Amino acid sequence: MYTALNHLHSYWAYFTLLVLAIAFLNAMVGYFKNKDFSMAKDLRISLFALIFTHIQLLIGLILYFVSPRFSAWQDGGVMGNDLLRLILIEHPFTNIIAVALITIGWSKHKKEVSSKRKFGKIALFYGIGLFLILLRIPYMLWFD
Ligand code: HEM
Ligand code: HEM
Repeated sequence: MYTALNHLHSYWAYFTLLVLAIAFLNAMVGYFKNKDFSMAKDLRISLFALIFTHIQLLIGLILYFVSPRFSAWQDGGVMGNDLLRLILIEHPFTNIIAVALITIGWSKHKKEVSSKRKFGKIALFYGIGLFLILLRIPYMLWFD
């Protein structure tokens, strides 16, 4: 269970970051070039990014509790150990906030009428979300 989920979370992360980056850049281009927000392309890209991040969140939440590192909460020393603190506190905490911001951006873009403001909401919230995610990825485990 743990190994499978860990692999899934690890590989899904590539797709999530890729689609998020595409959605962010697409929104930046749309915003600064004053493009029309299209249902066929722009809405779909933003929705894909939202779905990919939500799936990553769900896998991450389950992984958290099945990971052997979780028992460190009982054994103690989580705060004092850089790797444990990253995996059990910083990474989940930062990413839950990031996914919440991305979801808020998605919700807010729906309420906007003008294309410019739709792109603006996606660019701002997805951009901050992506930035936060990249800040606290356990890269040493990922590329190991
Ligand atoms: C821990 C798991 C999850 C949480 C806490 C969560 C939370 C949320 C929240 C709060 C919204 C509301 C956004 C709004 O106001 O429009 C939302 C929307 C959405 N979620 Fe999730 N979600 C989770 C997992 C998933 C998964 C696994 C999928 C896909 C397989 C998914 C797909 C979607 C989609 C497509 C929407 C957008 C609905 C729309 O606006 O048309 N979510 N989610
Ligand atoms: C939403 C964006 C997220 C991304 C892009 C992401 C990405 C990653 C990556 C790349 C790794 C390293 C995997 C490896 O060892 O190869 C990892 C590990 C991990 N992630 Fe996430 N993650 C996200 C969200 C979350 C959330 C919300 C949680 C928990 C609530 C979580 C829990 C974990 C845990 C527990 C590990 C370490 C598993 C272990 O080695 O025992 N992740 N994550």
